[in-house]
Amino acid sequence: MKNNEKDFVKLSEKWFDNQARTYDETDTILYSKYGKISCKNIYDYLADKEYDTLLDVGCGTAYLIDLLVQTHSAKHTGLDLSSEMIKQAQSKNIPNTEFVVARSDNMPFADNTFDVVTCSQSFHHYPDTDKAMQEALRVLKPGGLYILSDTGVGFFKDFGVMVDNFVYRYFSNTGDCNVSYLEKSIRDLERNGFEIIKGEKVTTFIYTIVARKK
Ligand SMILES: C[S@@+](CC[C@H](N)C(=O)[O-])C[C@H]1O[C@@H](n2cnc3c(N)ncnc32)[C@H](O)[C@@H]1O
Repeated sequence: MKNNEKDFVKLSEKWFDNQARTYDETDTILYSKYGKISCKNIYDYLADKEYDTLLDVGCGTAYLIDLLVQTHSAKHTGLDLSSEMIKQAQSKNIPNTEFVVARSDNMPFADNTFDVVTCSQSFHHYPDTDKAMQEALRVLKPGGLYILSDTGVGFFKDFGVMVDNFVYRYFSNTGDCNVSYLEKSIRDLERNGFEIIKGEKVTTFIYTIVARKK
């Protein structure tokens, strides 16, 4: 879906630049509450998985990477649109980690670079979700995992998507533009060439999908 009416990327950048300093400590829905749930869920899934290289797209303040380095000695890379969020991530001095300011739909990495690509609570800010999925697929190695955890509209399904993406977005300045739900995101991932390994509702409104590059 392409939402060109508003510059959602600019809105997201501004929204998160302003939140960056207090993001981690502010445990509410508009700040880090859902991110912490998604990151913990991704972390639990990866706990017993081995990998050499992981990219976290929309990494924010590196909450997920900070968890992962406790159990994995791999090379971790965090990418985010907001330079202020990246500054917070860098200030944590996480070993063997690199941070990049860039967009999810145009990532500065070669094809087939990463064993794992993760995306926690960032995807609903992407105006062109197909392009973001294709970028994740491109930078993953064959057989690599894409783990997408996001807030969805839960049981409201297509009605919720319509209300959220075609009504709410006109009034909101958060940069939200593509809220989805578990089954729809699974269909979108399959259409973009991923093989689904697992999809689950973590809470009523948060879902996580593990997909694989064939
Ligand atoms: C709610 S925060 C989640 C941060 C972190 N992943 C977590 O779970 O705590 C969403 C992040 O996505 C980033 N973001 C939004 N749109 C983006 C885009 N098009 N490309 C890259 N990052 C983006 C924002 O700057 C923000 O840091």
